[in-house]
Amino acid sequence: MKLFDVYPLYNVTPVKAEGCYVWDDQNEKYLDLYGGHAVISIGHTHPHFKAAIEEQLNNIAFYSNAIQNPLQQELSDKLGALSGCGNDFELFLCSTGAEANENAIKVASFYNKKSRVIAFKNGFHGRTSAAVSVTDNKKIIAPVNAHNPVTILPLNDAEAVRKEIEKGDVTAVIVEPIQGVGGLDEPTTEFLKEIRRITEEKNVCLILDEVQTGFGRSGKFFAHQFHGIKADIIPMAKGMGNGFPIGGVLISKHIESWHGMLGTTFGGSHLACAAGIAVLDVIRKENLMDNVVEISEYFKKEVANLPGVKKVKGKGLMLGLEFDFEVGDLRKKLIYDEKIFTGGAMNKKLLRILPPLNVTKQDIDLFVQALKKTI
Ligand SMILES: Cc1ncc(COP(=O)(O)O)c(C=O)c1O
Repeated sequence: MKLFDVYPLYNVTPVKAEGCYVWDDQNEKYLDLYGGHAVISIGHTHPHFKAAIEEQLNNIAFYSNAIQNPLQQELSDKLGALSGCGNDFELFLCSTGAEANENAIKVASFYNKKSRVIAFKNGFHGRTSAAVSVTDNKKIIAPVNAHNPVTILPLNDAEAVRKEIEKGDVTAVIVEPIQGVGGLDEPTTEFLKEIRRITEEKNVCLILDEVQTGFGRSGKFFAHQFHGIKADIIPMAKGMGNGFPIGGVLISKHIESWHGMLGTTFGGSHLACAAGIAVLDVIRKENLMDNVVEISEYFKKEVANLPGVKKVKGKGLMLGLEFDFEVGDLRKKLIYDEKIFTGGAMNKKLLRILPPLNVTKQDIDLFVQALKKTI
């Protein structure tokens, strides 16, 4: 049976991985500066991660959400402690980023009984019903998703947000603290503080989509923590499981839960929790957020004067190099000739760098040398 052909593929077949490196079926070694779409946080096949999953697999991999599963509470406690959100939020577990956003929007709508969502130009929030409707890409919105009431506004236009909210039908404002797929543009602190003020005043939920930015990738546990604001709802996924499908939604304590409000078969399974706990333990024990800050500074310094680089965007290890040309060919050359994975964005001139959080200066040196040669 043929696979439903929705992905354009590079002709590389990874069969093995360790840390920041991946090997293909010809035993060629690649430097992974993309982490499989910002997913690999603590490094491929990390020994603690493997041991934790293996041990859990030997005990129990899965049961439904109708029984006691103390691993969910352990994960929640460790997440609360490391993120600093423990006192103010509660955790709902699911499996993907889109599902996290889908539930975030539902929670907001259940809470204030409104339905219109404000989202922003070039934003990306996933491909399920409500999540795709708040994504600024008409091509991927099917007619069945197009009926959701959504208004897309320019990023950093607080006055436009205020005008829409004053119409009285807005349930939530959803924003990425750093745009991922869109191309590393960021809301300003002033904008975020202003929309926080307006949303609070009008009982509209502020959803900070940390699906890509969360779990230390920005150098803080959540990227919105750079701006001194508090969200009502924080969806997360990607780095949470280092490749194991796990997502979650942090929901502010003033929003009350009730039985049946949300649900999922797979979310919070024993195996998913073991993966999530292992990731949190490694981020903490190996001080990965400190490494993110150090390597980020080093990277920015090393690439600053490369020919063709117009701008270096992003925070921590969620970085983008904006060139004065489209980077499609450059990415191909980096993969096929230099054996380095990098990422693209909706902004065709942007090369995205999303390595595992334990990437080293030597790895960055390899990339910079390859880039100099290729450009
Ligand atoms: C900010 C953001 N939100 C949501 C998603 C959707 O996540 P998933 O692909 O796990 O559904 C993504 C994926 O790239 C993302 O970057």
